[in-house]
Amino acid sequence: RPEDIPVITIDGPTASGKGTLADEVARALGYWVLDSGALYRATGLAASRAGVDLDDGAAVAAVAAGLDLHFEDGRAFLDEEDISDALRQEATGLMASRVAVHLPVRAALHQLQLDFRRLPGLVADGRDMGTAIFPAAPLKVFLSASAATRAERRYKQLISKGIPANIEDLRADLEARDARDKGRSASPLQAAPDAFTLDNSAQTIEESRDLVLAWWQERGPFG
Ligand code: DC
Repeated sequence: RPEDIPVITIDGPTASGKGTLADEVARALGYWVLDSGALYRATGLAASRAGVDLDDGAAVAAVAAGLDLHFEDGRAFLDEEDISDALRQEATGLMASRVAVHLPVRAALHQLQLDFRRLPGLVADGRDMGTAIFPAAPLKVFLSASAATRAERRYKQLISKGIPANIEDLRADLEARDARDKGRSASPLQAAPDAFTLDNSAQTIEESRDLVLAWWQERGPFG
């Protein structure tokens, strides 16, 4: 039964390192990964390309329900087009945050997310993995890192790719996105009551990974 397949949820704000941590934990355990943000990003992108008003929840939900999206070798395809680079852009993140406030949009993406739960297990990252999508997950992690730390990480990431960036603008953008993600009524960003909080501001990715794996082992055995 799908409910018996192990799931680790990792929720947290923008640029907290959720994606990297989820990938590392999944790699160590041989589990699948759900990058739920990519679904909201793809929805925002598809809606804006179709000229749909991002504030029109019903119209955006129709786009979400009709998404022809698939993932292969770490790349994302929308209608067979490789949209991986477009998905990662800051502007796409902002569109994602806008479409994610609508309850019908979240409902349209719900089953799609559950379908990622396959053997031998899943690591799911997002904002509401532990609160709304996999509320019975045996291990829930809530990541936090200061806005300053997150802005600096994002800045280094962009500069290392040769993309010009301004740290003050990045920080303002991510604080605006945090405010919207936390303040919305539909599945706001918040820790599940039984989540373990992990502040990774001063941690390496290996340290965070090992901590999550140790928590997982304490809860196990799984599989
Ligand atoms: O994790 P991310 O930066 O790719 O997410 C982009 C936006 O999508 C985020 O600002 C809010 C929304 N989102 C959401 O509402 N729920 C999720 N589970 C994941 C992302």
